[in-house]
This record gives sequence, structure tokens and C-alpha cells, in this order.
Amino acid sequence: MKLSSLDLKSRKNIEKIAMLTAYTTPVAKCLEAAGIPVILVGDTVGMVEMGFGSTQSVTIDHMKYHVSAVRRGAPHTHIIGDMPYKSDTDQETALDSAKQLLDAGADSVKLEGPKYEIIEYLVSHEIPVVGHTGLTPQTAQNFKQVGKNEQEASRILTESQGIANAGAFMIVLEHIPSELGDNVTRQISIPTIGIGAGPGCDGQVLVINDMIGLDDTWPPFSKQYAHVSDIIHKAASQYKDEVERNSFP
Ligand code: KIV
Repeated sequence: MKLSSLDLKSRKNIEKIAMLTAYTTPVAKCLEAAGIPVILVGDTVGMVEMGFGSTQSVTIDHMKYHVSAVRRGAPHTHIIGDMPYKSDTDQETALDSAKQLLDAGADSVKLEGPKYEIIEYLVSHEIPVVGHTGLTPQTAQNFKQVGKNEQEASRILTESQGIANAGAFMIVLEHIPSELGDNVTRQISIPTIGIGAGPGCDGQVLVINDMIGLDDTWPPFSKQYAHVSDIIHKAASQYKDEVERNSFP
């Protein structure tokens, strides 16, 4: 059964939320079969699937393509579509972008940073919104952990509260100290989904390519539950040998 944004919101303090990213139909199909309740079609697609150096190169058309592919693979799973860089610069642009993602198959949208008025505007137009603070890759200078000093930690807590007050139903906390993840989680009323934010969050999200070990570098907070690159490499080598030795077909 597909969870709504309200179902997800009401899981706070009741049930932990396991979220993963997905970008393609076959992967989405596997995640739905595994019972993953919410899939994020993140703009990380630009870096992990499209070879861009930053998420800034991702467009709304790229996101629509991937959201619709994921929807075809996971018809019964809540899908969050990421608002790409500059797709939420003002209220009308944000509303238009969000509607395009919902039309492509998303159930809600996620946007980065303390854009309180934009969130309020989307929510007032019945768009369910997920916030995102801590490390915000669209505008970050690097991928180092943030929120390590008191001033930064206080900014991230204030932003989380502002995002919740603006009407977001959930928030992603990226690459911050565990104690801060724990503190934000205790102080706001909506579920926190951590990625490198410690075990105290209400749920966790990982980038699928990192967690299945596709490619060969991963963020320090990720965990590899498989090493799919090795499997592809082995299969491709075996195939090459067999074609060259004329043993396949
Ligand atoms: O784009 C993405 O995949 C994300 C996650 C890193 C949370 O925003």
C-alpha cells in the first residue's frame, strides 16, 4: 500500500523510515519488492548515473525522466522527486517545477535549504514538501561534514525548525554530527531522515549506487551492502573471454 505524506509524518517516534534513492525502473522494482516504503529520486542522479561533476547540471527534464522511470517500476511506493538546482528560485517557478514532478509520478517534492516562503507557497497549493538541510550539495563548496561548531549547529537547528514550521512533512539532514542529528530530531515535530546524521534520526536514506557498491568511491557515512561493480566486472570479463574463445553462443 502506498504511504501518503501524512502516513510518513505520523511515523515519527513510532516506526523508523528506511528510504533509498532510485533512478531507474528495474532498481525501483527491486526496492518496492523489498518493501522500501519511500524512494527518493534524488538529483544525485546527475553525479552517480550521468557523470556530471555536480548536481547543478541536473535539469527539470532529467528529473521528470527519472521520476517517471521509477514510478513505472514502483507503482505502489511513495516517491519523492528532487527539485533540481534553480528550479525553485521563486514561488511560481517552484510551483511549476513541483507540478511537473508530480505529473511525472512523484507523490511529493524535496528542496534544499531554508526556503521557507517557497515551502509555504507549495504547501498552500497542496504540494507535499520534504525539506533538506545540513550539507546541501546544490550550493555547497565541498562535501565535508557541516554543523561541527556551535554557530553552524545552531543555524542548522534553526533552519530545521523553520522548514518544519513552513509546512514540510519530513526533512533530510545530510552529513552533520550525530549529536546534532539527535538534537534536531528531538526538537522538531516532523520526521528527520538522516544521511550521515547518526542513528538518532527518525529514518535513514542512502544513495542506492553507494549502498550497492556501484563505482568505487563512496561517502564516509555510507555502507556497502553489496559490491555490484565487482559482479558486473566479473560477468563482463567472462563474457569477453567466452566470445573471444568462441564458447558463447
Ligand atoms: O539527491 C539526493 O540523492 C539526495 C540525498 C543525498 C539525500 O538529496
